[in-house]
Amino acid sequence: MQLTSRQITERISSHIDSLALPQEPAGLYLPVRYVLSMGGKRLRPVLMLLTYNMYKPDVDVAMDPAAAVEIYHNFTLLHDDLMDKADMRRGHQTVHLKWDANTAVLSGDVMLSLADTYMSHCDDRHYRAVMETFSRTSIEIAEGQQYDMDFERRDNVTEADYIEMIRLKTSVLLACSMKIGAILADASDEDIYNIYKVGEQMGLAFQLHDDYLDVYGDPLTFGKKVGGDILCNKKTLLFIKSMELADSTQREELRRWFSSSPDSAAACEEKIQAVTRLYTSLDMPQMCREQEDLYYQRAHAYLNKVQVPDEAKSELRSYMASMMNRTV
Ligand code: IPE
Ligand code: IPE
Ligand code: MG
Ligand code: MG
Ligand code: MG
Repeated sequence: MQLTSRQITERISSHIDSLALPQEPAGLYLPVRYVLSMGGKRLRPVLMLLTYNMYKPDVDVAMDPAAAVEIYHNFTLLHDDLMDKADMRRGHQTVHLKWDANTAVLSGDVMLSLADTYMSHCDDRHYRAVMETFSRTSIEIAEGQQYDMDFERRDNVTEADYIEMIRLKTSVLLACSMKIGAILADASDEDIYNIYKVGEQMGLAFQLHDDYLDVYGDPLTFGKKVGGDILCNKKTLLFIKSMELADSTQREELRRWFSSSPDSAAACEEKIQAVTRLYTSLDMPQMCREQEDLYYQRAHAYLNKVQVPDEAKSELRSYMASMMNRTV
């Protein structure tokens, strides 16, 4: 039986809520509970389970690996928010503010190991392939996050550099989630490859949209600070394309803003507004839509190659469509 993405989201959410996480020391585990209880879209486990469910009905088999990938994702968020100096996540204070930086580091670390533990709860036949895929992904994400930080200080980042950076920091986790779903379901090697590429291309579209929302999201519902990437001088595609399309005055202005470090709330807002105005005047919302669509179409082209009946793909297809319309 195939489940809807809504049913799968409910199942994985209640599975995560029911995990028997340790209680003590509270300083270590309270922040873990805090971040996991704030929800989030649960995209990665849902993608894993939707992929598994294209092949097999018994999704419960993959519940612990699915929880693992969500715990892992939340670990990256704890460290990412520290690195990005982010105050808000899912509409709540970030862990390093509510507690402190050491807490974000250590609670993040324990989540990484908890993720490994839950990921290992798969049968022996798949254990090695699953763990290798997961570890490799974890290494790549660290590489992507390092590039992301390095790029804050560089002013010669190209579109190709950016795409490779977001592939590493974001796409590979979506791809890994789907691949593990396929591995656990005994998909063929060819399907596993194509499914990985679906996740990878969706991940690129997803991070492009994340970067768009970081500038143009609704502050009341976005759950993160709008303009955070601008304050960190992130070399998103909005910045890279704007620099390409700008006339010399606009280019100078952008360069000036991206080498400034505002030291008051008002000065931060001024920087966000000025850069947003420049992005908008250079049609960046349209550029984002077009680029997202390009990668979204590529994801579908790979999904079309996957050897399961078309009906079995429909839930995943509509979930992918919903990912493109997200506002949070
Ligand atoms: C946020 O991921 C980090 C990125 C890779 C952009 P999500 O947008 O999936 O965050 P949650 O889990 O739904 O909050
Ligand atoms: C997040 O990228 C990538 C990882 C967490 C690995 P972002 O820094 O854009 O994510 P948000 O916007 O803080 O969620
Ligand atoms: Mg961030
Ligand atoms: Mg970041
Ligand atoms: Mg972001």
